[in-house]
Amino acid sequence: MDPSIRALVAVEGLDAFDVQRALPDDASFTLLAMTDGVDETVRAIIKETPDLVVVACQGREDDRSLHIIDAAHRAAPTVPIIVLAAASPNGFLRRAFEAGAADMAIFPQTKEQLRFAMSIAIARHPGKGAELGGKKDGRLICVLGPKGGTGKTLTSTNLSVCLAQRGERVALIDLDLQFGDVALCLGLPPEKTVYDLAQSPGALDWDKLSAFMAPHSSGVHTLIAPRRPDQASAVGAELLREIYSILRQNYDWVVVDTPPGFTAEVITSIDHSTDIVMVGMLDSLSLKNTKLGLETLELMKYDTDHIYLLLNRAHSRVGISQSDVEAVLGRTPDVFIPSDREIPRTVNEGIPIVVARPQSEPAEAFGRLTDLLMGESVSTVQPVPALSGVGDTSSSAAAGSRRRLFGRKG
Ligand SMILES: Nc1ncnc2c1ncn2[C@@H]1O[C@H](COP(=O)(O)OP(=O)(O)OP(=O)(O)O)[C@@H](O)[C@H]1O
Ligand SMILES: [Mg+2]
Repeated sequence: MDPSIRALVAVEGLDAFDVQRALPDDASFTLLAMTDGVDETVRAIIKETPDLVVVACQGREDDRSLHIIDAAHRAAPTVPIIVLAAASPNGFLRRAFEAGAADMAIFPQTKEQLRFAMSIAIARHPGKGAELGGKKDGRLICVLGPKGGTGKTLTSTNLSVCLAQRGERVALIDLDLQFGDVALCLGLPPEKTVYDLAQSPGALDWDKLSAFMAPHSSGVHTLIAPRRPDQASAVGAELLREIYSILRQNYDWVVVDTPPGFTAEVITSIDHSTDIVMVGMLDSLSLKNTKLGLETLELMKYDTDHIYLLLNRAHSRVGISQSDVEAVLGRTPDVFIPSDREIPRTVNEGIPIVVARPQSEPAEAFGRLTDLLMGESVSTVQPVPALSGVGDTSSSAAAGSRRRLFGRKG
């Protein structure tokens, strides 16, 4: 008997009933779901973890199916996608393959031929296990800020979306287990949370974990914080270690938003991270706490080359000069985020500023942070108006930062 296939079928511009009739109907074929549109398909892929996705469509170049193929490929790069198209003009074919299709079959097709095409696509595709074997683990970025309200959640959400906009596979974890607000900032309903994951029976593996990740329209998959503070204690260090290990195998980037301070779960996250983004604000109390945070990382023997310093609300005219900042912190911040009225507005709307106002100064600054982390060269360092010369990297204290600002490879 043929090995079994669990397939998900997205239908675009064809009669769903006709498509269903064309699918294999033997016991070794399971139709997990038939979906309509990008969002429904991505949700179903994450929920059902199919062996294969079939996108049944007209095959026109302006077809919405190309978006479905692209989104499905981003949501689950290890799952092969077969396009079942009523026609296959050259332009469509090329774009379907570019979007991530593994194979193409003409609709209608006999059940046997379609079954064969599916088996070949699965056999040829590297598959979950095979792909992970030779693949490097993704980077884990811990977004820290010793003080509350400095802009950690703002940074982790915008950084994650920026990375996804560049085609990276990104998981975002809300580790502010008591008062997490990543879901609010991204406009996601808190349907399943890390608490629900902790409560669910059985061993943790990728299939199980992925079912608890909420997909955002940018492509970022989010593990949402518990709904109530009393549920926080259900998430222990052991579970976090397992979560990080599995996520790093399945994403290019795992971004962790943290609560203020060095709590036990924050320390576990630091221990498992490859990079840290330290978020400070431009006032003397926050700078002092940021300094203490940097010193704590030093005590933990964290590699300073992998600590990125972000100064938020850097536009404020608060009478602190560049040399004050350098004197307190011992280094120049890598990225400055100005104060901007649009930021609270985008937080309230649940749309990150890099999506809502991509041309704004804060959005561009998050783009520069993304450049730094991805190791691309950053040609312009924006001076901050309130801090005369803060963008000038000529002082010795700035030497470490300057090296990164001009193209460190991660
Ligand atoms: N550069 C900025 N300009 C204007 N408003 C900002 C800026 N940065 C942050 N804010 C606002 O400050 C508030 C706190 O930001 P955020 O939630 O990102 O901080 P946090 O460090 O995650 O806080 P907590 O420690 O409570 O988790 C948000 O409401 C946000 O809108
Ligand atoms: Mg926060």
